[in-house]
This record gives sequence, C-alpha cells and structure tokens, in this order.
Amino acid sequence: MTQVLVLNGPNLNLLGIRQPEVYGATTLADIDELCRQTGAELGAEVTCFQTNHEGVLIDRIHAARTEYAGIVLNAGAYTHTSVALMDAIKSVDLPVVELHLSNIHAREPFRHKSWIAPVAIGQICGFGAAGYALALRALLGHIEAQA
Ligand code: DQA
Repeated sequence: MTQVLVLNGPNLNLLGIRQPEVYGATTLADIDELCRQTGAELGAEVTCFQTNHEGVLIDRIHAARTEYAGIVLNAGAYTHTSVALMDAIKSVDLPVVELHLSNIHAREPFRHKSWIAPVAIGQICGFGAAGYALALRALLGHIEAQA
C-alpha cells in the first residue's frame, strides 16, 4: 500500500477555534479523518502529523524520505518565511503538494510569497478542508503516473 504523509505546521492544531471566518469550523481531527478516508478510497495509507515547530517539520520531511511516497504539506506561516523548509524539501527526493485552506493569493501581500511553491509539484489553496482530499488525489495521481 502506498504510504503518504500529511504534514501540518504552526497553529493548525487550533483549527475550528482559530479565525473560523478564514479557516472554517472543521477541526484538525476532522481533517485527519478526511485524509485517512480519502487515502483508503484511493488505496493509500495516510499518516497525519502536526507540529508548531519549524525544526520538527524539517526532521519529519527528512525522515519521510525512507518512509513515504509523498507529502501533502500545509506549512502555515512558515510557507512565507522558511528557506530552511524549502531546502529540506529540495534535499529529499519526494513529491510534495503545497496546501492551504485559505486562498493565500487573495489575502495580505506577505502571504502571496511561498518558499514551498518552487519545490512543490503543485499548490492547492482556497477550498478549505476539502482541499486536503484534492491534494491527496493530486499527489497519489502523480505518484501513480511516475511509477
Ligand atoms: C494557511 C495560510 C497561511 O498564510 C497561514 O499563516 C496559516 C494557514 C492556510 O491553510 O490557509 O497558518 O497555511
């Protein structure tokens, strides 16, 4: 079975409570369940992990190299700041789909810049929690096409 990782960054543990007008009412636990269900439908096993720490995200990306076929990554605010995350993705030979609940391009200018986008196979944003299912479909389609 294809193993994929859904990696969530800072403040996403507070989904459902945090700015629901921007990020919706769905909790991270609900999103994790949606991801596992979508994976099962598509014949993949999905592992979900969230951390508020940049270095832990980097460690998980490094470890993913030997454990997973690809990653869906919502790096939260580190998307807009972290050259280290971009380098981590570049350092492992894994397809990464960049994911955001909100449409970062329709928000404040500082959110328009993504350090992840140049090293991702693609970006999905603006579809709320449903975007995770779209991202998994895109990632698994890509993995299958490469096989
Ligand atoms: C986010 C968008 C980021 O700009 C923000 O810092 C987040 C969440 C999103 O999912 O829409 O924490 O990645």
